[in-house]
Amino acid sequence: METTLVLIKPGGVQRNLIGEITRRVEARQLKVVGLKLVNASRATVEEHYAEHKGKGFFEDVVNYLCSGPVVAMAVQGTNAIKAIRTMMGATNPLEATPGTVRGDFALTIDDNLTHSSSDPEAAGRELTLWFPEGTVG
Ligand code: CDP
Ligand code: MG
Repeated sequence: METTLVLIKPGGVQRNLIGEITRRVEARQLKVVGLKLVNASRATVEEHYAEHKGKGFFEDVVNYLCSGPVVAMAVQGTNAIKAIRTMMGATNPLEATPGTVRGDFALTIDDNLTHSSSDPEAAGRELTLWFPEGTVG
């Protein structure tokens, strides 16, 4: 059993895709064990994307995550980390397979709608960052 972090980025919230994305998670028989809508602080987002500090897109992606509310969701299930990454699709929506969230709803890498943890170490770190109060799972 694994728990992973999903973020619905500001573009996904603005486009009313909270329900559609959450529906897909639940339909996969994965359990939502944490869920909130937050205006993320810059400090939280910079820590979240710490691995990308210094890269060309770092400032832009941090600004984007701070530009409006995001949904933070903790998702639990067998192989949840890989299952969710595959469900969301490739980082660049142009390379994301149809049927994935990015492949169905996104067109550009700077507005690719969701974040999901890449591996167990990242999931643990990100869940602590976004759910310091803990989850219900
Ligand atoms: O989100 P994911 O783990 O698939 O990709 P990443 O390589 O960890 O990059 C984090 C986020 O930075 C991406 O989801 C994009 O929103 C953004 N990014 C970007 O705007 N331009 C790039 N060339 C690479 C990433
Ligand atoms: Mg990543």
